[in-house]
Amino acid sequence: MKLLIMGPPGAGKGTQSEKIIEDYNLISISTGDMFRESYRKQESLGLLAMEFIRDGLLVSDEITNEIIRRRLFAKNAEKDFLLDGYPRTLNQAYDLDNILEIMDSKLDAAIKILLDDEVIIGRMSGRRVCSICGATFHIQHKPSKKDKICDQCGGVLYQREDDKEESVLNRLSIYHEKTKPLVAYYKERNILFEVNGNQAFDDVYQEVKAVIEAVR
Ligand code: AP5
Ligand code: MG
Repeated sequence: MKLLIMGPPGAGKGTQSEKIIEDYNLISISTGDMFRESYRKQESLGLLAMEFIRDGLLVSDEITNEIIRRRLFAKNAEKDFLLDGYPRTLNQAYDLDNILEIMDSKLDAAIKILLDDEVIIGRMSGRRVCSICGATFHIQHKPSKKDKICDQCGGVLYQREDDKEESVLNRLSIYHEKTKPLVAYYKERNILFEVNGNQAFDDVYQEVKAVIEAVR
């Protein structure tokens, strides 16, 4: 199964991905996580990407397509996966289609999480992320048991640099301009499914699960 989870920044893509990969034994391929991991290791790719990420801008299609190509064409690359946050421009969607064609495969579903901009801003201002394992919390909706400490690995929680207000506003406007056209693109291919992101975690997941069960 090859799935794509899409939607505005802070919609809950990463949160839902964690459950999907566990229940359906998939691996998650998140370009945002890949860039942050590369930055954490102080690699040149991560350092370059963070220049854009910090301000809420997109990393170039060339760089992004290249890391996805390397990942999907790697030796022992998994056949089944869940893409989170890639593609986000039409150019990236075309490139992904080319890659999948070479793999003699296709996407089974593009699951879009719907959420209004006002809710998104609250989701991102309250998000905290583990500096070691990347687990995501929210100061109101999903607080860690100990203040600023990850429940899973004991790492220190931090606020993502691109969750500051100015970056969030940039990310939202770029989403509306560059990523929204993908909705029509996947609708035309009859693989677009929308779920309501403005519900409790588990209720969103029930809708996501219903989509996956319908296409698997
Ligand atoms: P990326 O990391 O993908 O960021 P994003 O798309 O902006 O999405 P987020 O990760 O911020 O949100 P999410 O939808 O995963 O929400 P989450 O589950 O954390 O990308 C970062 C940057 O990298 C981009 O801005 C760009 O610069 C670059 N980049 C990445 N991919 C790229 C690409 N393809 N091309 C070019 N550049 C690229 O949830 C958010 C918060 O809400 C959490 O605190 C969570 O606990 C809480 N929450 C989640 N669900 C619920 C719920 N149902 N109820 C209450 N709270 C909830
Ligand atoms: Mg995410």
